[in-house]
Amino acid sequence: MNKTAFFDSLTEQKPDPLLELIAKFAADPRPGKVDLGVGVYRDETGRTPVMKAVKTAEHYLWETQESKSYIGPEGDPLFLRTLAHEVFGGRHCGRLLAGIQTPGGTGALRLAAELLALDKRRKIWIGTPTWVNHQAIFAAVGLQAGTYRFFDIGKQAVLIDDMLTALQNAAPGDAVLLQTSCHNPTGAALSQQNWRDIADIAAARGLLPLFDNAYQGLGHGRAEDAAGMMMVIEAVGEAMVAVSCSKSFSLYRERTGAVYLVGDRQASLNKAIGNLAGYARASYSMPPAHGAAIVAAILQDASRRQAWMDELNDMRIRITEIRRAAGEAFGRFRSELAHIGAQEGMFSLLPISPENVRKLRAEHGIYMPDSGRINVAGMRVEDVASVTECIGPYLA
Ligand SMILES: Cc1ncc(COP(=O)(O)O)c(C=O)c1O
Repeated sequence: MNKTAFFDSLTEQKPDPLLELIAKFAADPRPGKVDLGVGVYRDETGRTPVMKAVKTAEHYLWETQESKSYIGPEGDPLFLRTLAHEVFGGRHCGRLLAGIQTPGGTGALRLAAELLALDKRRKIWIGTPTWVNHQAIFAAVGLQAGTYRFFDIGKQAVLIDDMLTALQNAAPGDAVLLQTSCHNPTGAALSQQNWRDIADIAAARGLLPLFDNAYQGLGHGRAEDAAGMMMVIEAVGEAMVAVSCSKSFSLYRERTGAVYLVGDRQASLNKAIGNLAGYARASYSMPPAHGAAIVAAILQDASRRQAWMDELNDMRIRITEIRRAAGEAFGRFRSELAHIGAQEGMFSLLPISPENVRKLRAEHGIYMPDSGRINVAGMRVEDVASVTECIGPYLA
């Protein structure tokens, strides 16, 4: 027999460092250990609970859902319509929209990337540092990425001039990846004027923005968090928006998301959606239905929607309070770190070396990835002082 040895010939892959960190944290027996590495929201008790509005919607679905038959690669039309209203507001800046449901925000980015990669001359411009998966997603479809420096960790400041220069030098038709709000991993927020400048350059250069919208509502509020994105959408010819419901509905493992395309001709948008549906069909066929049904059940009903908004606001207020305390406490070690208090969303990036990240873990049981990204929601307000006291001496 001529046995194949294909599996053995494959390159060994490194385990995901964040998943390794989770495993190390779980195995650490110290009672006072602190997990600042995890990328999910945590409440005061350290849990990531199912939202009450989600439970109510699940109950409603249990009572009313009559079939689990296939729904098609585009997904659930009610989910797409109600989520669009939530993300873009009623009028969508007067632009036309079309959407397709996806397995989470990652699935949305991947589908968008497939479409962008059809033009082999196109690059996508990415500010660094960025979410660890971005470059992998674009590389997987053979889309060339160009990078520029987005953030100065020492100064805790956006390098807006570097960003605008990169966009000025991008070729017409190039894509530009923009995080809608609550930037992962830096927490840095762009000012109104920054967004205005980005919108003007994107429109003048004929760039195609791809928004990664994973945290809308966890920064300053649903509409506030989308204001910059809407400014850009109003200015450009076409745009793509990858929406994740993982954080804003706490539906992480349900894999719930969508890609929306924005333009001026419904026929062109529908053609592009047809292409996206083709990729979906050839890869996972149809998106998972349960999370989308929950989101639609919440958004179509005024009282369930209000309950969800209230819970989302509570999450945002908790994050803002911890940030304020963390900004004050870190600011005592290094004045620039006071900016952490005014940043948004769950993440901030500390100036700390990978060696010191490891020492901090060994000596104090404080966990974060080597990059120095911390999830502020991993702390309770009353623990901020003691945790920052431990971290302070290790900062660069
Ligand atoms: C910036 C950013 N984009 C997209 C995602 C993907 O989210 P999902 O779990 O919905 O795939 C994440 C998740 O951490 C993220 O931080």
